[in-house]
Amino acid sequence: MTAAAPTVEELAPRTEEEVREHLASGKLVEGLTHMSPEYLKGIRRILTVSADTELISAPAYLRAAQHAPALNNFGSAVSIIQDELAHAHIGYRLLADLGVPKDGLIYERDPGAFKYPYAFDVPLDSWYEMVLANALYDQAGFVLLSDVHQSSTFGPWKRALAKVDKEETFHLRHGRTWVKKLCANPEDKRRLQASLDWMFILTLEWFGLPDERKKHGIQLEYGFKGMSNDELRQTWMAAVVPFMDEVGLRVPAHFDADSDRYVIDCPFPAAFDAEAKRWLLDDGPISWEDVMVRWKARGPMNHDYVGRLQRGYRGQIAIAA
Ligand SMILES: [Fe+2]
Ligand SMILES: [Fe+2]
Repeated sequence: MTAAAPTVEELAPRTEEEVREHLASGKLVEGLTHMSPEYLKGIRRILTVSADTELISAPAYLRAAQHAPALNNFGSAVSIIQDELAHAHIGYRLLADLGVPKDGLIYERDPGAFKYPYAFDVPLDSWYEMVLANALYDQAGFVLLSDVHQSSTFGPWKRALAKVDKEETFHLRHGRTWVKKLCANPEDKRRLQASLDWMFILTLEWFGLPDERKKHGIQLEYGFKGMSNDELRQTWMAAVVPFMDEVGLRVPAHFDADSDRYVIDCPFPAAFDAEAKRWLLDDGPISWEDVMVRWKARGPMNHDYVGRLQRGYRGQIAIAA
């Protein structure tokens, strides 16, 4: 028999004003006793997105790792997957401390309730896509988590991210080393380019709605994040676009010296054919409302990946019953 879960009001005793004063005096929030209900809701939301993203990358990368050219390359991919599972564990552990039981989050949620970026719903089907995911998706993870690491006011997460940041650096370096190596061969380079054509734009979307559409209010105020969506997207492009230029791969973005920012050179946001893994750029840009319809419906791999993660648990329950 389980008692009803305590409410956020019961768990987080401080008022919003007390939290603001605590933060203004330069202290970090160390646990529930320092939190207000709003703070608790906000930190739970961002931790869930982060933990879900780390977790889903494991089955996504495992699928792609099957295409490793040699056993030792498969080993490198598996060690990345192991890191991602550990990163997910950090997030779910912290959520458990904040009153959200881990089993319910990982094993009992519907696939559609997971909160990771849509990009992971599109299958990675080759070693080219594996290493590009490291160069693009892990770079996005690195940009987002470095921002949290710097700005977060939640002490336990801030400290844990020091280790996560280092490992993400290893992942994206793995991607870049391979991209460089594959670019030396024209046929490999052609195939990389074909995958980059859909993966680059999908990662641009990762950072979410543009600033004029998205109110960050509490996220920035309570220091859950430091940069806005557009600033994060710019930071990601500043890392990825020069690298792709250097290796001779084309991306639909360039640095504009006049405005001192990166500019996207294709219709954005755009419609995406997830089965064909192809952007319908000839149709021109679409609205963010349309993008959100696609995100909400989730993509081709959502059920498969979540099903894999939950399979053993469901089996155990069946045996116990
Ligand atoms: Fe990670
Ligand atoms: Fe990673």
